[in-house]
Amino acid sequence: MNHKILEGKRGIITGALDENSIAWRIALKAKEAGATFTLSNAPIALRFGKINELAESCNAEIIPADATSIEEIENLYDKSMEALGGKLDFVLHSIGMSPNVRKKREYSNLNYDWLQKTLDVSAISFHKMLQVAYQKEAINEWGSVLGLSYIAAQRSFPGYGDMADAKATLESIARSFGYYYGIKNKVRVNTVSQSPTKTTAGTGVKGFGSFFDYADKISPLGNADADTCADYCITLFSDYTRMVTMQNLYHDGGFSNTGMSEALMEMLEQ
Ligand SMILES: NC(=O)c1ccc[n+]([C@@H]2O[C@H](COP(=O)([O-])OP(=O)(O)OC[C@H]3O[C@@H](n4cnc5c(N)ncnc54)[C@H](O)[C@@H]3O)[C@@H](O)[C@H]2O)c1
Repeated sequence: MNHKILEGKRGIITGALDENSIAWRIALKAKEAGATFTLSNAPIALRFGKINELAESCNAEIIPADATSIEEIENLYDKSMEALGGKLDFVLHSIGMSPNVRKKREYSNLNYDWLQKTLDVSAISFHKMLQVAYQKEAINEWGSVLGLSYIAAQRSFPGYGDMADAKATLESIARSFGYYYGIKNKVRVNTVSQSPTKTTAGTGVKGFGSFFDYADKISPLGNADADTCADYCITLFSDYTRMVTMQNLYHDGGFSNTGMSEALMEMLEQ
């Protein structure tokens, strides 16, 4: 696929850590689709990740920002508009982290300071990125802002812990902010609920291999990978989806609407 559906569009892509990151795949596809953009990640991730490689291949400037810091988000928008020569058309929030999940704390034994951190990094940062853009008038009319979610916002998945609460909040923020941003500037706000994907954040979840295999067996199309997720996100940044807003959009090969599959039954009957 090589359609220049983002020709002339400017954006910010957060969350590319290494080549497995969903944001990394989105950056490559956005470049292919003709967009110009800046890349951003938390300063610590910039030290350990491989974002320089991506920046080179996309001809993109890297602007560090901890997504929990209003000051750093303000700087991210200012520097991005300066580097790209104008207001933005799309923003990707591809950020998630839970200290409770990382440190294997059960959901029935959460550390509440860590829960605050989970919510701040994985959900409230989405609100912060939206609010700063809204107040700065940083996004053009018909612009598009996307966050990445997971179906644990609707159904319980053991091991996903407090990230489920963060995703439920993230999806709610897309609905609530989408209302205000739609009225003010016709900017759309959505979340994409993606299949389990083999990335640093994904594989950090206890039992990820089982989640992955189960979803793959249940979904009529199988699990959606990071590249197909990227293709979908590119359409959501483009002018072909101008009237889609305030939605949580499943990109999961049909998982969310399937109760049982023959493939899984066969496996269980063995
Ligand atoms: N991998 C999956 O199975 C899966 C499924 C559905 C949704 N998602 C979501 O996709 C998004 C991207 O995750 P991924 O799977 O590509 O993993 P990833 O680990 O490659 O990306 C997560 C990113 O969040 C960044 N981050 C963490 N704390 C930050 C902070 N304070 N400020 C700025 N950035 C910060 C990390 O540096 C990293 O780049 C996340 O929201 C994740 O929850 C992932």
